[in-house]
Amino acid sequence: MPRYIYPALPESEVTPERLYRERRRFMKQSARLALAASLPGWSGLSLAQDKPPPWKQKLPEAPSNNQFSTQEPLTDQKIVTSYNNFFELGTRKRDPSDWGHYLQTDPWAIKVEGEVNKPGTYDLNKLIKPDQLEERIYRLRCVEAWSMVIPWTGFQLSELIKRLEPTSRAKYVVFETLYDPEQLRGQRRDTIDWPYTEGLRMDEAMHPLTLMAVGLYGNPLPNQNGAPIRLVVPWKYGFKSIKSIVKLRFQEEQPVSSWQQLAPEEYGFYANVNPNVSHPRWSQARERRLGEEGRRKTLMFNGYAEEVAHLYQGMDLEKNY
Ligand code: MTE
Repeated sequence: MPRYIYPALPESEVTPERLYRERRRFMKQSARLALAASLPGWSGLSLAQDKPPPWKQKLPEAPSNNQFSTQEPLTDQKIVTSYNNFFELGTRKRDPSDWGHYLQTDPWAIKVEGEVNKPGTYDLNKLIKPDQLEERIYRLRCVEAWSMVIPWTGFQLSELIKRLEPTSRAKYVVFETLYDPEQLRGQRRDTIDWPYTEGLRMDEAMHPLTLMAVGLYGNPLPNQNGAPIRLVVPWKYGFKSIKSIVKLRFQEEQPVSSWQQLAPEEYGFYANVNPNVSHPRWSQARERRLGEEGRRKTLMFNGYAEEVAHLYQGMDLEKNY
């Protein structure tokens, strides 16, 4: 993707900082434990409460959703968890897996606001209903013309939205990622006007393909893939699938998403995968499936046209890119 400045630090300069931070983190943790042990009434039991909830240590068995899953071979899990875009952790593909471990994902709260009957700040552990989790194998097509096939564990965003009861004025849902430069070192630079923001039209958000993911390959999401909860919208370019979500806002006006704000002539609000509409600087007609040789044709709506084309009937997809 364009317009960001690649960090020009040589590895030799990066390593000492990393070691320094490791040490600082270790010291912080030791201090926390020492403090906990010194509090009156402390017992070994309160340590157990620090453990992540069961679903985050190991995901519950989630039934496969065959209706919405592709049969294509899965991308190697190592590629999926080490070749990432997560600008909050840096702009190089390996930054997210190198730096993601500073992100604390428990406890995690999601704020719900705007045109909705049940606004509030929700504890993620209470918000997830384990019996609604499913596994779905989706293609993810990045705007940079590569793609992957990933088994996600998650629940339909529509289930959550129904519980929150948006008002009749809610036409769009806006999502925001955590802003915390202490934990997310990429936010110490102005590559993006933080926090990372994305949005969906209400009918897109309510579409059964739209998933809130909490895991991949049967395990809880690694931080580099957007722990503890991210969006997955398989017919749109990957940048719509916002990671580490802390806010949902329901509103009447169409929001401006981060990439749209950064380069409006290159990235639109809809960002539907479309082989017929080129990015101004490269074609979107073909893609490289990571881990495979050669290139393959990109499919309209990333191969999900049958399910979603009706959402855009009558719209000029060259204008609404
Ligand atoms: N979400 C946030 N918060 N920050 C990001 O930089 N990158 C997006 C998307 N979600 C991004 C994000 C882009 S460009 C892509 S292609 C996908 O995440 C990549 O997801 P993956 O790293 O799990 O493959």
